[in-house]
Amino acid sequence: MTSEDPVRPVPGAAPGQSLHAAPSRHTAEYLHTAGTPTGWPTAPDPDRAPDPDRTSAPDPAPVPDALACRGLRYAFGETRAVDGVDLSVRPGEVFGLLGPNGAGKTTAIRCITTLLPVPTGMVRVFGHDAARERMAVRRLLGYVPQQLSADAGLTGRENVALFARVFDIPRRERAARVGQALEAVGLTDAANRLASTYSGGMIRRLELAQALVSAPRLLMLDEPTIGLDPIARTTVWEHINVVRAATGMTVLVTTHYMDEAEQYCDRVALMHRGRIRALGTPAELRSDLRTRRAQAARTTTTTPSAPRTSVSSDVEPTLEDVFRDVAGTGLDEQSGDFRDVRSTRRTATRVG
Ligand SMILES: Nc1ncnc2c1ncn2[C@@H]1O[C@H](COP(=O)(O)OP(=O)(O)O)[C@@H](O)[C@H]1O
Ligand SMILES: [Mg+2]
Repeated sequence: MTSEDPVRPVPGAAPGQSLHAAPSRHTAEYLHTAGTPTGWPTAPDPDRAPDPDRTSAPDPAPVPDALACRGLRYAFGETRAVDGVDLSVRPGEVFGLLGPNGAGKTTAIRCITTLLPVPTGMVRVFGHDAARERMAVRRLLGYVPQQLSADAGLTGRENVALFARVFDIPRRERAARVGQALEAVGLTDAANRLASTYSGGMIRRLELAQALVSAPRLLMLDEPTIGLDPIARTTVWEHINVVRAATGMTVLVTTHYMDEAEQYCDRVALMHRGRIRALGTPAELRSDLRTRRAQAARTTTTTPSAPRTSVSSDVEPTLEDVFRDVAGTGLDEQSGDFRDVRSTRRTATRVG
């Protein structure tokens, strides 16, 4: 079975729709040039200068950030999809990139995975420059794209084995590694069934296994739970967390489900119209908003002419409130054009 096989319809899919019988364009593109996974590199980050105040024996080489972006920009013609993003993700962290449709999350992810060039700014993955060391960066990454990438005409095991081959996992290790990846996502019992018979949640877990088979140090998940029911969403996250606990893998996830970010992310960045509008732990961001609201309430009571705030400063804000606060008004009306919504729905329909 090859990626040239015709697209097969998935039972239950809407007419004209199918789960990819071939890997999606983005995944195919990524896989085509992905290299051999190596061990865990320890390249020092050249951006970090030694501390001049320290005179004692030098510390061991500093551990570079899992991901560092500085001034990252990417435009599609006139559309500034990513408009100056600065981001540092620490090793072992679960970092959430949140934002509505069209915020620029997928474009940022595609720059980090080297699927798009980095025309302006800098991206480093564990110290490796995404512009100059593309293969080194790709070897460190696992990527679950927003668009579905599993092959409906293959069994779960065959799907993962395909990735194992592409990532050049030695032949004698392949079967065991594929088995481990399937086990890690709870698909051992279903491994020999065609992916076309899987539920949406199982498909997403299969794609997770595909990304995990190369033992990535940084796992990039683009809307991994979109369109899934709450139980399937929880199951996907449980499997991610088990692997993370066992391997210390760093996770960068995009989502527009604020509740998920609150529950599973150590830190989050709120992105809107290509820019990061706020960054911190969910608790920090909520606490900042509470403080701002309290200050606004004090201003209102001491300055009769000040505009009245519609929200009580006593109410515990949610992450969604934080987002509305930092993104300003018009979030609902202006977030994402038709193309964004259509693309999101397409993925949601396929997995739903
Ligand atoms: N291939 C493309 N061609 C033209 N515009 C695009 C393309 N991909 C994304 N965009 C535009 O870039 C902006 C950011 O999109 P995207 O990165 O997909 O956002 P998100 O993942 O947050 O929904 C949107 O305005 C979108 O319409
Ligand atoms: Mg997206």
